[in-house]
Amino acid sequence: MEERPHVAAMARPRLLLPFILAAAAAVILSPFGDAHSKAAKKSDDIVNGPLLTSKLNAKRTLIVGPEDEFKTVQAAIDAVPVGNAEWVIVHLRSGVYREKVLIPETKPFIFVRGNGKGRTSITHESVSSHNSESAAFTIHADNVIVFGITFRNSARAGLPNIPEVRTVAAMVGGDKVAFYHCAFYSPHHTLFDQAGRHYYESCYFQGNIDFIFGGGQSIFQCPEIFVKPDRRTEIQGSITAQNRKEEDSGGFVFIKGKVYGVGQVYLGRANEAYSRVIFADTYLSKTVNPAGWTSYGFDGATDHVMLGEFNCTGPGADVSERVPWARQFTKEEAEKFLTVDFINGREWLPAFYY
Ligand SMILES: *[C@@H]1O[C@H](CO)[C@@H](O)[C@H](O)[C@H]1NC(C)=O
Repeated sequence: MEERPHVAAMARPRLLLPFILAAAAAVILSPFGDAHSKAAKKSDDIVNGPLLTSKLNAKRTLIVGPEDEFKTVQAAIDAVPVGNAEWVIVHLRSGVYREKVLIPETKPFIFVRGNGKGRTSITHESVSSHNSESAAFTIHADNVIVFGITFRNSARAGLPNIPEVRTVAAMVGGDKVAFYHCAFYSPHHTLFDQAGRHYYESCYFQGNIDFIFGGGQSIFQCPEIFVKPDRRTEIQGSITAQNRKEEDSGGFVFIKGKVYGVGQVYLGRANEAYSRVIFADTYLSKTVNPAGWTSYGFDGATDHVMLGEFNCTGPGADVSERVPWARQFTKEEAEKFLTVDFINGREWLPAFYY
């Protein structure tokens, strides 16, 4: 027995090198290690333009650029036939397209492909008393996929708290619409997620008041949400204003994202009787007001609103001072919202996490 420690000590120098090599090989070769590291990475390692292109298998590509057949994005959209039934790629070369773009209801199956949110942008300066009219980019068609584009409403005018002045960057009214690696900028009312089933993966949203709003049924996977203050108003803004009016399938679900910025903001505003928003597995910085949610401007009851959080982290995730009607979801309650089944995504999304 007394020999044992000695034997082990003697054996160690000889065993050490093979052990290190075996461990290194396990890290490099193990399929488990590979899958695990992929899951931990940002999705830009997985979803990119070529992947979506191969999934959608489009037969036709319309190229937009200063030296190309189509000089404007709208000209390419206009060239897609009414009643289109096969995927068409509208490819935007790098650059800033200063125009208002609309995909009408009659032109489904368009894949609008940019070169990345830092490279391709659709920018329009537009103010209106109607959210929809102010939008720099509008989708009324079903089955639209968008990759790698920044959408910006560059209007400087527009007080955030007066309804007459709206500055929407993008309005999404079609069903089965997905955005991958896009960015949305506006002083306020940035994304009008009006209606339909939508998926936003690895997108960036910037704004001040009600900047993701509407009655959509949408998943925001790995979103980055930046709150930009507007010194012209005393109102403390809300990130979301979800418009669910009755017990339907609508709602906004934010998964594995990050909320940060300057000043204070609420996660959302109860603005209809059944407003539904969930932040799950999300980092909330101290920019999130401790009350979490507000019913500013809403005089209805909060009994049926479903505004809450699940498993969030960060200094803004302390729920001790939340409004009494804010929800803290259990794992069982949250589960049905946390996969693309919430938007029947397995049936129509070209790519998704889970
Ligand atoms: C909570 O989120 C963390 C990451 O922040 C994750 O590792 C963990 O699995 C989540 N817990 C549940 C119960 O989903």
